[in-house]
Parts: sequence; structure tokens; C-alpha cells
Amino acid sequence: GADLIADGQKVFKKCAACHKVGEGAKNASGPQLNGIVGRTIGGVEGFKYSKVFQAALEEGRVWDEAALTEFLAKPKSYMKGTKMAFSGLKKETDLTAVIAYLASLGE
Ligand code: HEM
Repeated sequence: GADLIADGQKVFKKCAACHKVGEGAKNASGPQLNGIVGRTIGGVEGFKYSKVFQAALEEGRVWDEAALTEFLAKPKSYMKGTKMAFSGLKKETDLTAVIAYLASLGE
């Protein structure tokens, strides 16, 4: 619901230094995240991903909610060799909320 999305928008402040979202969002130190839920891993045009992300793209792996939950809880365990310098979200409620927020964004 709307409250979950609003909570997720607050959680996203932890991500916003590296990731832009919304109309016209550009890649920064991380790729832009519009439409990320359901998108192919490592699929943003013009972003230079780590090798582990490039391999996931070749395998055609997709960011469904389960994959995002695992990755965002422990980025470096889920994607060994990732260059995303973020320790992860500890709270289940933060994970649920930030994924709901990401799912609410358009392409
Ligand atoms: C990749 C989400 C925090 C830097 C990604 C991806 C997602 C994501 C979904 C995969 C993108 C794709 O496959 O196209 C988030 C969320 C965050 C967060 C929700 C906060 C909870 C950060 C922070 C940084 C960062 C703080 C910078 C210090 C990156 C980089 C990548 C990435 C560099 C590409 C990884 C690689 O090529 O190995 N992030 N991120 N992220 N993120 Fe984050």
C-alpha cells in the first residue's frame, strides 16, 4: 500500500548517493534503478558492471522480489565480487519497504 511505499522512499535515502530514480534518472556511481523489479540483472545501458553482474546478464537472470531481498540483505554474499559498496539492510521491514518503493517506479 501507499504507506509501505512511503516507508521505502525513506529507506532509499541510504541508496540515493549512488542510485538515481525518476524521470530522466542517469547512471551515477551505481546504475539508475527505474523499472528494476522484473528487469534483467546488469541490464542498464551504458553502465559498466562488475564481472559477476556481467555473467548474470549473460545467464539472463532477472531481479524478482526474492533475488532483490537476498541481494539487498547481503550484497557481497549474493553477488560475490560486486562493486556495490553497501553492507546491506538488516531489517526485514526495510527490505520489504524499499522493494515496494522500487516496484512503484516506472521505466
Ligand atoms: C547495483 C540497489 C545502495 C552502488 C545495484 C542493483 C540494485 C541496487 C537493485 C542492481 C542493478 C542492476 O542489476 O542493474 C540498491 C539499493 C540500495 C543500494 C536498494 C540501498 C538500500 C548502494 C550504495 C552504493 C551502490 C550505497 C554505492 C556506495 C551500486 C553499484 C552497483 C549497484 C556500483 C553495480 C554493482 C556491480 O556492478 O557489481 N544496486 N543499491 N548501491 N549498486 Fe546499489
